[in-house]
Amino acid sequence: MAANGVIHAVDLHKRFGAVQALRGVDLTVAQGEIMGLLGHNGAGKTTLVDILSTLMPPTAGTASVAGFDVTGNPEEVRRRIGVTGQFASLDEQLSGHDNLVLVARLCGASRAQAGSRADELLEAFGLRDAGRRKSVTYSGGMRRRLDLALGLVGHPEILFLDEPTVGLDPPSRIGLWEMVEELTRGGTTVLLTTQYLEEADRLADRITVLEAGRVLVTGTAAELKSRVGSGSISFRLEPHGDPAVAADALSGAGFPPGARTARGELTVPAGGSADLATVIRVLDTVGQNVTEIRHSEPSLDDVYLALTGAESREPAPAGPPHRESPPTGRRYTGNPQETM
Ligand SMILES: Nc1ncnc2c1ncn2[C@@H]1O[C@H](COP(=O)(O)OP(=O)(O)OP(=O)(O)O)[C@@H](O)[C@H]1O
Ligand SMILES: [Mg+2]
Repeated sequence: MAANGVIHAVDLHKRFGAVQALRGVDLTVAQGEIMGLLGHNGAGKTTLVDILSTLMPPTAGTASVAGFDVTGNPEEVRRRIGVTGQFASLDEQLSGHDNLVLVARLCGASRAQAGSRADELLEAFGLRDAGRRKSVTYSGGMRRRLDLALGLVGHPEILFLDEPTVGLDPPSRIGLWEMVEELTRGGTTVLLTTQYLEEADRLADRITVLEAGRVLVTGTAAELKSRVGSGSISFRLEPHGDPAVAADALSGAGFPPGARTARGELTVPAGGSADLATVIRVLDTVGQNVTEIRHSEPSLDDVYLALTGAESREPAPAGPPHRESPPTGRRYTGNPQETM
């Protein structure tokens, strides 16, 4: 089992009617690792998590979690995992405390053990004061935190987090990241789906990019970033500058072809900030002055664009209505790390 990873999926397929949600997904997550699963709306992230957490069987392929087959031995798998879904699964009519006690009792804890585990988790998630009121009165962020706490009741070895920080304010998001990091220091393995590049960059040891039900790439954030080169230099010419003259001069100096951005800037691929001075000097020799210039490291966003740009987003041909409405926009918030 160890050689294969704590989570090990081979050639998973999942079909919903005419919708091919997963089309041959392989995934291996090692003990104590945080694997980030990144993908557009409809890429198949929740479907993969649902299969691995035994909520639904795959149409084809196999998967094991903690060494147990997810379809052959689902109860053994369930005993070892915690799941926080994309949509909170708490009982709104119960208080936070009673939700936690209920789950702890289902995990086999005595009444006293369940009560103290509930209090411990309420404290850890900043919900002590709200713990005795009905969770229907909780804010979105409080529900998310309670939902995560519910996933941790049974001290799971493996944690599945499906978009755990959606709807959290920045301090709560950071608090949750710290909690996840703390858990993995204790040996917990985490599979986390996210649409926030920043989150994947910060938390994940490795990232798997899913697109239309397939794995596009798996690697560390640094490995993924290295696939899109070493960054770029962007600059703006004085109003009477001539972009064509600037481009010719840079090409003559050995820079690869650049581009013009939507903001009217010119960009050229560049090795590092040391190239800033070269660009300024080359442009100066042809009478082109820059008013603004900066070097940008490649971001995970660049990687994502480079990998998914040409692919279609929705995996299915026309078929029965999809569960979600089509994506209306990208939610990726990773900013290029800019240096001057
Ligand atoms: N129960 C279902 N019935 C029919 N189609 C489904 C069902 N569940 C998922 N799908 C479809 O499978 C595809 C993958 O969906 P999934 O929910 O796994 O995507 P996702 O990556 O989690 O997206 P999001 O970022 O929006 O949560 C989508 O086309 C979706 O419409
Ligand atoms: Mg989802």
